[in-house]
Amino acid sequence: MKRILLTGATGRLGSELLQGLNSSYEVCAPTRAELPLSPQTDFYSFFQQTKPHTVVNSGALSDVDYCESHPEEAEETNVLAPQKLAEACRKLNIRLIHISSDYVFSGEKGSPYTEEDEIGGNPNFYGQTKEGAEKAILKANPEAILLRVAWLYGKKGPDFVSSIMDKLRAGSTRIQAVEDQFGSPTSIADLCTHIPYFIERENVKGVFHLVNEGCVSRLEMAKVIADEFGSVCEVCGVTSKNFPRPAKRPKNTSLRSLRLQEAKLPPMPNWEASLREFVRKNQKAPE
Ligand SMILES: NC(=O)c1ccc[n+]([C@@H]2O[C@H](COP(=O)([O-])OP(=O)(O)OC[C@H]3O[C@@H](n4cnc5c(N)ncnc54)[C@H](OP(=O)(O)O)[C@@H]3O)[C@@H](O)[C@H]2O)c1
Repeated sequence: MKRILLTGATGRLGSELLQGLNSSYEVCAPTRAELPLSPQTDFYSFFQQTKPHTVVNSGALSDVDYCESHPEEAEETNVLAPQKLAEACRKLNIRLIHISSDYVFSGEKGSPYTEEDEIGGNPNFYGQTKEGAEKAILKANPEAILLRVAWLYGKKGPDFVSSIMDKLRAGSTRIQAVEDQFGSPTSIADLCTHIPYFIERENVKGVFHLVNEGCVSRLEMAKVIADEFGSVCEVCGVTSKNFPRPAKRPKNTSLRSLRLQEAKLPPMPNWEASLREFVRKNQKAPE
């Protein structure tokens, strides 16, 4: 049985991924205290001792507003640590799957980005660290796999989908959602199905867009969630100016994959089908 080392296993993606991987792999999921994502960490010795077949780096400082006001910590966690981790994987011939983001793009293209588009220009520091990480990792370890995910939702939360579901459960009669920012909402459950393909297929490397298919606003997502709830709640659109936040958000970072098909990997499901399925399965309040 292959041994997988998973970072960020207490996070939104990592916690579900840990559960999913556990059925087919021996998973080693060090905590932050055991393996800090820091440039001071000796990843080489840790990997030499634990001998993983694949490292999945799902750990990151993912709070966009926090990164804006803590740039040094964000740079260390999101760029310098993954760079060092990638070097250790290369030296030890360990496969590396790094989780990246739609925020590597500026959001100004006006249509979905493919893996062939150039990265750069995101208006916030978090996005710039994810861009920096991709460049540093590919330089340190050209065999690495970079999976760009976006607008995640899943069982753990908090995320946009869980916040709308909480409002509907609480009986809200009017919900507001941003109508002028677009992305590719992605079900963590779908990622848990797809990520093992990258562990198993020894010949794939480089960048892949791994998001549910489609380009959608938060408003459209909220309408689908309310519809699936069977709610009569009024869902209204507002512009992002009505939701000022410390870090600027890009306009449209929706993604499309060319490389999944090229690599003969299954496509990701459509965003609406996955969102409806998630809402149906998780409609009852968590106990
Ligand atoms: N959420 C999204 O919508 C989204 C969108 C695009 C890309 N992504 C990317 O997807 C990946 C997973 O995101 P997520 O939403 O699951 O993140 P998350 O819920 O914020 O979880 C982050 C994980 O990283 C760990 N971590 C943070 N700083 C660390 C450090 N210095 N040392 C060791 N561990 C550290 C956290 O551990 P603690 O529990 O100890 O804090 C936690 O396990 C990240 O690479 C993120 O950039 C996320």
